[in-house]
Amino acid sequence: MNLTPHKILIIGSSSKTSQALVRLISAETSWEIILVSSLITANIHYKNITCYPIDYSQPKDLKAVFLKELPTIVINTAAMTNVDLCETDHKSAWEANVTLVEYIARMCKVTDAHLIHFSTDYIFDGIKGLYAETDTPNPISYYGKTKLASENVCKAASISHTIIRTNVVYGFSAFDSNDFVEWTLDKLTDEKPFNVVTDQISNPTLTDDIALAIIKIIKKNREGTYNIAGADWISRFDFAKTIAKVFHLDESLIEPILTESLGQKAKRPLKGGLLTLKAQTDLQMNFATVEAGLSTLRHHKLTYLIEKDLVN
Ligand SMILES: NC(=O)c1ccc[n+]([C@@H]2O[C@H](COP(=O)([O-])OP(=O)(O)OC[C@H]3O[C@@H](n4cnc5c(N)ncnc54)[C@H](OP(=O)(O)O)[C@@H]3O)[C@@H](O)[C@H]2O)c1
Repeated sequence: MNLTPHKILIIGSSSKTSQALVRLISAETSWEIILVSSLITANIHYKNITCYPIDYSQPKDLKAVFLKELPTIVINTAAMTNVDLCETDHKSAWEANVTLVEYIARMCKVTDAHLIHFSTDYIFDGIKGLYAETDTPNPISYYGKTKLASENVCKAASISHTIIRTNVVYGFSAFDSNDFVEWTLDKLTDEKPFNVVTDQISNPTLTDDIALAIIKIIKKNREGTYNIAGADWISRFDFAKTIAKVFHLDESLIEPILTESLGQKAKRPLKGGLLTLKAQTDLQMNFATVEAGLSTLRHHKLTYLIEKDLVN
């Protein structure tokens, strides 16, 4: 991996994770940032940063960006992350989560860039819970299968790379986001009772922590696989209750249900989550508890609203 100066190419720049990366890299480093997005409007949001709107189905679009910018580090956050949609539309899921990664890896090889790619605890079956980097994957959903395949693409590509496995990602987004926290906030503000599962357990992860871990990985020149995940291993039900508490909404609206009664299209690993001992020791990371992470998210949301009001 080329150490300095860095030119960071972030693919999928409207993702939650990418937005935290842009915030933190801009604040903490002098690295140059280049963005790629399928959203035409993304370049309006990132005012002082070059943002290329591209069509991921057109490899020549990505190739042109790689060859023009010659990044030293490529961070791929783009993915089809809707697990149920992946289960019903295998073709689109494979194209977004595997074929695109194959192409990115090939371009990293051509330009000698280091690839940082995202994976998930959904590559595991959820029988054991809290998986280590060394545990054996056994995906039970099509999304999980595509993400495992994407890890294998990185490993087989003969490129310098780091795989970040994470789970139940939440964080501030200036674009529409349909993650669990936003879904729960929408339901709570509707003020009607709603069900949340008690038997899906994970360690929800704040995007700010992911961004900080990635900066450390780049500075320390680290390769291989890292689990990056929050400090609390909790059920979706308890997570939703904490969301209500932190955002001062009515937690009595949240009612318990079991996963089997939901009839979700894709199977979920029930005991998920990731052990983070390696990141804690090697990267000196101290991951946010759910309560602290949600307070940070609330702060970002309020700051954004205040800034927007001042500008308009
Ligand atoms: N969300 C989670 O709970 C979670 C858990 C574990 C792992 N991960 C992994 O972490 C990474 C980042 O997740 P995130 O939650 O930050 O992502 P996200 O907010 O769901 O955004 C994903 C981005 O990927 C791009 N995208 C969407 N559909 C696409 C498609 N069909 N083909 C190509 N690109 C598409 C879009 O970016 P542009 O329009 O800007 O290109 C979108 O904003 C992903 O690799 C995900 O698999 C996420």
